[in-house]
Amino acid sequence: MTKDTKWTADSWRSKPIKQYPKYRDEAALKEVESRLKNSPELVSYGEIKQLRRELAEVSAGRAFLLQGGDCAETFSEFSAKNLRDYFRVLLQMTIVLMYGTGLPVVKVGRIAGQFAKPRSSDLETIDGCELPSYRGDMINAIEFDESSRYPDPERLISVYQQSATTMNYLRSLASGGFSSLKRIDGWNSDFIKNSPQGERFAELSKNISDALKFISACRLQLDNTEQLSEASFYSSHEGLHLAYEEALTRGNDKEGHFCCSGHMLWIGNRTRNLDEAHVEFMRGIENPIGMKVSQEINLDELIKLIDTINPANEAGKIVLISRMGANKVAEGLPPLLRRVKEEGRNVVWSCDPMHGNTETSPNGYKTRKFNNILTEVKQFFEVHQAEGTIAGGVHFEMTGQDVTECLGGAQAISELDLKERYQTACDPRLNASQSLELAFLISEVLKCAR
Ligand code: PEP
Ligand code: CO
Repeated sequence: MTKDTKWTADSWRSKPIKQYPKYRDEAALKEVESRLKNSPELVSYGEIKQLRRELAEVSAGRAFLLQGGDCAETFSEFSAKNLRDYFRVLLQMTIVLMYGTGLPVVKVGRIAGQFAKPRSSDLETIDGCELPSYRGDMINAIEFDESSRYPDPERLISVYQQSATTMNYLRSLASGGFSSLKRIDGWNSDFIKNSPQGERFAELSKNISDALKFISACRLQLDNTEQLSEASFYSSHEGLHLAYEEALTRGNDKEGHFCCSGHMLWIGNRTRNLDEAHVEFMRGIENPIGMKVSQEINLDELIKLIDTINPANEAGKIVLISRMGANKVAEGLPPLLRRVKEEGRNVVWSCDPMHGNTETSPNGYKTRKFNNILTEVKQFFEVHQAEGTIAGGVHFEMTGQDVTECLGGAQAISELDLKERYQTACDPRLNASQSLELAFLISEVLKCAR
């Protein structure tokens, strides 16, 4: 077992690895890695430790985890407007969940590093032409031609730079007044304003504004209440491209090793195998680690994975992200919950209702039904309630834009609508209005459950 062998930031290199690009020019890759090794960290040790403390609160049922963002970030969709719209919806969802549950919400973006994708096939064939699959902007380009599809190491530098700019902007939005509850009236974006969700949010924000006015009339000092004016925000991504992650890992055996490409990393459903490279890398870093799990996981293996990554069984270290599908979760989840509870392992349970509900529409679009997404979340909460375990949070693929990628919701997006604004580089995302709608529905479910 990996456990007894010495971990180093590069010990993953001696293990079998899945979902990994083959570079033609290894020397160019090495050169990029050394530039990244000399580059500033994107997040600090202190922030990583703080997220772990907050996730420990989630595991105890005293806070709720909201993790969401793009399936895959891209270079072409990078803009201040997109980031603002995304952050605004995440804040709206946060408020809805806080208001409904009375719990603090830990906000973790799938952002500032989410550029590498696992693929079901190494090759893609179009009209008889076979090329390497698109693996995310961190690796190659989506255009279907030979030179675009070859992995290019310089892309790691572009990812680092875009992630740095993204983090800088999100930090300024989180602490610079944009997120102040006093400005909550301005959080509804134009296209949401007139939707049922927008109207519902406007009503909620009016209640909050009134409460703030009341508190201020009582001469309580709101401006000094950090929680209200600053919305702390953490970044996360799938830790798939281990050369990138290794190059941004800092620290030593005494202080601990911190992967400073983002606050939290997760291991995907396809790469979470014991004695393989991704688990080997994750076991040595101090960051909170997410692990995607489906109903197919072997329960002994699950416990071994938990123990490999969190041998001291510390709260706030592991987030198990269940992604089973609306029709599987009711039967699939209880055995996992029971076993982890029986063994006394400390984890945060989170629900990804996206990846078990992907389907192809008759007109050829990869999509998801809003109703299936909602059903999976609801059943996730019901199962936890029945088992006496804590449903800690949710994990979504979402955007602040008005895209048409998932079917249904209050806007009743139909198969014919998909072509209107289908913009994702990978999986279909909830648009701003669907995200907000889901937050309202979850807050209702949570109100009943808790
Ligand atoms: C993802 O989160 O984008 C993803 C690929 O998920 P999973 O590993 O659960 O399939
Ligand atoms: Co996805």
